[in-house]
Amino acid sequence: MRRCTVALTLCLTSSAFATQCGNTTIHSAADADALRKACRVVDGTITIPPTLDHLENISLDGIEVINGDLRSYKCGSINIKRRSPTNSSVVSFSSSSLTTIHGDLALDGCIPDFTNISFPNLKTIDGAFDLANAASLAYLDVTNLDSVGYFRLFAPTLVTMVHNELRNVTGAHGTKKVVVEQTSLTSVDNLFRNPLDIGDSPASIEGKTIMFENFPTQTLTNATFGFARAGSLSIEGNGTLYVTLGGPDQTTMALTNLTFSRGTAGLIRNPQLANLTVGTVTLGSYFEGANNFTDLLLPFDSMSSLTILNEQTLTQLELPPQAVNYTNFSVTLYGCTNLNLSSQFATNPDGTTRQTWYWPQKDIKSLSLIGNISTPFL
Ligand SMILES: *[C@@H]1O[C@H](CO)[C@@H](O)[C@H](O)[C@H]1NC(C)=O
Ligand SMILES: *[C@@H]1O[C@H](CO)[C@@H](O)[C@H](O)[C@H]1NC(C)=O
Ligand SMILES: *[C@@H]1O[C@H](CO)[C@@H](O)[C@H](O)[C@H]1NC(C)=O
Ligand SMILES: *[C@@H]1O[C@H](CO)[C@@H](O)[C@H](O)[C@H]1NC(C)=O
Ligand SMILES: *[C@@H]1O[C@H](CO)[C@@H](O)[C@H](O)[C@H]1NC(C)=O
Ligand SMILES: *[C@@H]1O[C@H](CO)[C@@H](O)[C@H](O)[C@H]1NC(C)=O
Ligand SMILES: *[C@@H]1O[C@H](CO)[C@@H](O)[C@H](O)[C@H]1NC(C)=O
Ligand SMILES: *[C@@H]1O[C@H](CO)[C@@H](O)[C@H](O)[C@H]1NC(C)=O
Ligand SMILES: *[C@@H]1O[C@H](CO)[C@@H](O)[C@H](O)[C@H]1NC(C)=O
Ligand SMILES: *[C@@H]1O[C@H](CO)[C@@H](O)[C@H](O)[C@H]1NC(C)=O
Ligand SMILES: *[C@@H]1O[C@H](CO)[C@@H](O)[C@H](O)[C@H]1NC(C)=O
Ligand SMILES: *[C@@H]1O[C@H](CO)[C@@H](O)[C@H](O)[C@H]1NC(C)=O
Repeated sequence: MRRCTVALTLCLTSSAFATQCGNTTIHSAADADALRKACRVVDGTITIPPTLDHLENISLDGIEVINGDLRSYKCGSINIKRRSPTNSSVVSFSSSSLTTIHGDLALDGCIPDFTNISFPNLKTIDGAFDLANAASLAYLDVTNLDSVGYFRLFAPTLVTMVHNELRNVTGAHGTKKVVVEQTSLTSVDNLFRNPLDIGDSPASIEGKTIMFENFPTQTLTNATFGFARAGSLSIEGNGTLYVTLGGPDQTTMALTNLTFSRGTAGLIRNPQLANLTVGTVTLGSYFEGANNFTDLLLPFDSMSSLTILNEQTLTQLELPPQAVNYTNFSVTLYGCTNLNLSSQFATNPDGTTRQTWYWPQKDIKSLSLIGNISTPFL
């Protein structure tokens, strides 16, 4: 008799929303409340549909582990709504208890206009961290997130990211990429400065390069890249980006492809980096060179191919002493109209002379130089 009463009470208190802790679609803040109060562990995927009530704060406080994904519907391309976040419409999606997602955290344009996404105690995502939001996201708190399958962020309106550091990229969906597309962050070092090894996967660092009148005007001006190994590194800045290769705890870096597509003004090698090797280095493009380098030293211990196209601000290019040991080296220079390649030497401000260009001594595969070149340089 007593047992029946207990069962009956449980039946009566459960809402129309099914609170089994399995696959769930959240249609409202009330749905989220029912789920979070009933389930410490969710044995399935939590889905956020585009129809979710647009002005509600959604809390998942109480949920600690999701044995599936936390995701939006996949809606393909993202609409850039060209709207600025306003303080009057803070809408947050948050959980202070969530520590682990065994699947993906995948939220794209098909979610409500959250301005604040806050999972400060989330530590591990076995799958992807894949967040794309073009409309509203201004504040992202993933303070303790240190291990992800892969990481991708696209959020042109994002001005604040609270995050300690990425310590491990374990691979998901066949990649270990760490990719930051457009954001309005002033630093992304928390993601890139550690000596992570992502194998042949790509890394990319991008500041805000598209300008929408109402969007915040913060710009990425300094970036430290510290990975020990990546298949490629692509960098895009807004004309004033200074890139340092080599993080604080790092001794080696090996990259297959390194590309500065636009907006970088300076390249610095951290002196702690004992060995820096790259395969192919590319600056600019056939249509438009768009970086802002003036005097560029290519600080590599090994490099097999260098292509510099249409870089108008570039006046001096330097190859270091280590270049004597480069093997199988090719160079393509095109359209760098202000680049002076008349000599292998330059005069320092104090009047002394230094060698600025060392030719590989072993072999050179190909040379294609179009510009202001004179014989002493060769
Ligand atoms: C939960 O959803 C996943 C895919 O999203 C599916 O593979 C799985 O079978 C579902 N589980 C249940 C119990 O319906
Ligand atoms: C959402 O929460 C914020 C505080 O974080 C509050 O200012 C705002 O009014 C809430 N919005 C709604 C619709 O409840
Ligand atoms: C939001 O509030 C902060 C601090 O009060 C202010 O600096 C900022 O300009 C406001 N943003 C918008 C879009 O109104
Ligand atoms: C974001 O939301 C979380 C949880 O609701 C709250 O603690 C935090 O203060 C919010 N931050 C901002 C900047 O609105
Ligand atoms: C990274 O994660 C992998 C797989 O979970 C684990 O084997 C490795 O020990 C972790 N590395 C660090 C530095 O935590
Ligand atoms: C990029 O820099 C230009 C000036 O060089 C500036 O006018 C523009 O606002 C910047 N864009 C962004 C998105 O910060
Ligand atoms: C950014 O880099 C430049 C050039 O290396 C340096 O002068 C400046 O102090 C750096 N700024 C910050 C905030 O680290
Ligand atoms: C490097 O660039 C070449 C040419 O674009 C490409 O074929 C190759 O796949 C890239 N390698 C990696 C590891 O990204
Ligand atoms: C190029 O860099 C200089 C500083 O070296 C800066 O003043 C200028 O605005 C930058 N140009 C562009 C187009 O961003
Ligand atoms: C530098 O790193 C490259 C690529 O990992 C390696 O082949 C080379 O032996 C290293 N050189 C030194 C001096 O350690
Ligand atoms: C070139 O390689 C030789 C043999 O490995 C080495 O002794 C020498 O120091 C290298 N030169 C430079 C400038 O790195
Ligand atoms: C030289 O580089 C080319 C590609 O640029 C590659 O196909 C070839 O195998 C390399 N040769 C040697 C000896 O490394």
